[in-house]
Amino acid sequence: MAEIKEPMEPYRIKVIEPIPSTTRKERDALLRQAGFNVFQIAADKITIDLLTDSGTSAMSDNQWAGMMMGDESYAGARNFFHLEDTVKDIFGFSHVIPTHQGRAAERILFEGMVKKGDHVPSNIHFDTTRANVEVLGANAVDLAAPAAYDPDSPHPFKGDMDVDRLKKFIESKGAKKVPLVMLTITNNSGGGQPVSLKNIKEVSRICRQYEVPFFFDACRFAENAFFIKKREKGYAEKSVLEIAQEMFSYADGATMSAKKDALANIGGFVTLDDDALSDKLKNLLIISEGFPTYGGLAGRDLEAVARGLREVLDEDYLEHRTGQVAFLGDLLAAGGVPFFKPTGGHAVYVLADRFLPHILRHKYPGWALTVALYREAGIRAVEIGGVMFAKKERKSGKEIYPELELVRLAIPRRVYTASHLRYVADALIELHANRDKVRGLRIVREPLFLRHFTARLEEI
Ligand code: F0G
Repeated sequence: MAEIKEPMEPYRIKVIEPIPSTTRKERDALLRQAGFNVFQIAADKITIDLLTDSGTSAMSDNQWAGMMMGDESYAGARNFFHLEDTVKDIFGFSHVIPTHQGRAAERILFEGMVKKGDHVPSNIHFDTTRANVEVLGANAVDLAAPAAYDPDSPHPFKGDMDVDRLKKFIESKGAKKVPLVMLTITNNSGGGQPVSLKNIKEVSRICRQYEVPFFFDACRFAENAFFIKKREKGYAEKSVLEIAQEMFSYADGATMSAKKDALANIGGFVTLDDDALSDKLKNLLIISEGFPTYGGLAGRDLEAVARGLREVLDEDYLEHRTGQVAFLGDLLAAGGVPFFKPTGGHAVYVLADRFLPHILRHKYPGWALTVALYREAGIRAVEIGGVMFAKKERKSGKEIYPELELVRLAIPRRVYTASHLRYVADALIELHANRDKVRGLRIVREPLFLRHFTARLEEI
C-alpha cells in the first residue's frame, strides 16, 4: 500500500480553545433530546465539528491585529479601501460591493439580473444560489459533466461544466431567457471538486458568443486555483495568484462568501465590471445590507477579509489545506471506508449508501451515519442525501432521492491538526467494522422547507 503522507501544519499555535469531551451515555441522551438531528445539538457538546468549513476558520495573528485597526466610520472606512484594492488585484473587476455573507451577495446580484421565467445554469448550484434564483420565479439548472456524479471516476476536474449541454441549453431557451451563467469553484455540491481553466475558457467563450454574462460563485477560488496548478498542464510554474487572476479574467464578475477562502468568520462581496448593474446592486444593498462601503459588516471584519484574501493564496497553506483533506481520505481508504474520489478541496464526502448497505434509502443511511458518528465519537458531520434533498411526488407524497447519499466531513481551515484527523478516521473505520449495528430512521416531524435543519427523527 502507498505510504500515507501526513502534512505538517505550516503554522504554530499561539491561542488554543479547549475541545469538549462527553461520554457515550451523555451523547445518546443528547441525540434523543435533539430528535436525532445533529444541527440541534449545542456546539459545546461536540468534540470534533466537521459540520462546515464556512465561518469556522482560525484567523491568523495578522488578521487579529487588523481587527484592532477597524475603522467604524459609516461611510468611507479605510478598511473598505483595503478590501477594495485587494479584491481588485486578485479578481480584477472594477466594482467591489461588500455583503454580510455569500448568500446576501447572491441575493442582490440575482435581484439585479434575474426575472421570473428566466433560467440560470451552473455546474451545480449550491443550495443558497439555487434558492435565491428560485425565489425570483426563475429556474436554477445544473449542467455539470457526467463525472460529477460518478464517485469512482479519477477525473482531475470533476467540477467541470458540460459545455455542449450549456450551448444547447442556451440555444433551446434563447439567450434572452438566460440572464447569466454561474460556475461554482470548487463545486461544493459535487464533492468539492475543481473546475479546470480549460473548462472556464470554454464556458466563457460560449457566454461571449451568446452575450450572456458569466459569473463565478467563488467561495473556494484559492483551493480551485491550487488544483489547477497541481493538475492542469501548463500551470505548474504559475503562482496561485496568477492562476486566480487568469480564472477571473474570463468572467464578468463573482459572488464570494468570505467565510470560506477569505479565512474570515463572516463576510462576503459581489465584484463586477458593469457600471450600470453595479449602481443597481448598490441601491439594493442599501435597503437591506448597508451603505456600499460596509455592506452589513463592521470595519474590523472588512479588514479581516482583506488580510485573509492575501493569506489564502500562500502556497504552503494551500499545500497543507488540500493535503489535510487528502490525508483524511488516505486514512479512510486504508481502512476500507467508501468515499467520493478524489478528495476535494475542503471536505471528504463519505458514500453513506455503500457504508450502510443494509439501510435502504427511505431509512436515510446518510442521516443514520451522522447519528452514529456523533453517538460513538462526538464527531459532527452533515448529511447531503435523502433528508436534505429528497423531492416529494406531488400526488402520492412519495420521496424521490438524490443520486448520491453523502455525509460530508468538512474540514475547517487552520483549526484541526493531523491527530484530530486520525481520531476522525479511526472512529469511522471502527464504525464501519460495526456497521451492522447502525439503524435507519424515520422522520416524525418536519417543517415545510429546508427540513434537515429542524426535522425530528426516531430510530427504527
Ligand atoms: N456558495 C457555495 C458554493 C457555498 O458553499 C456557500 C456556503 C455559499 C455559496 C453561501 O455562502 O454561507 O456565506 O451565505 N456554504 C456553506 C457550507 C454554508 O457549509 O457549505 P454563505
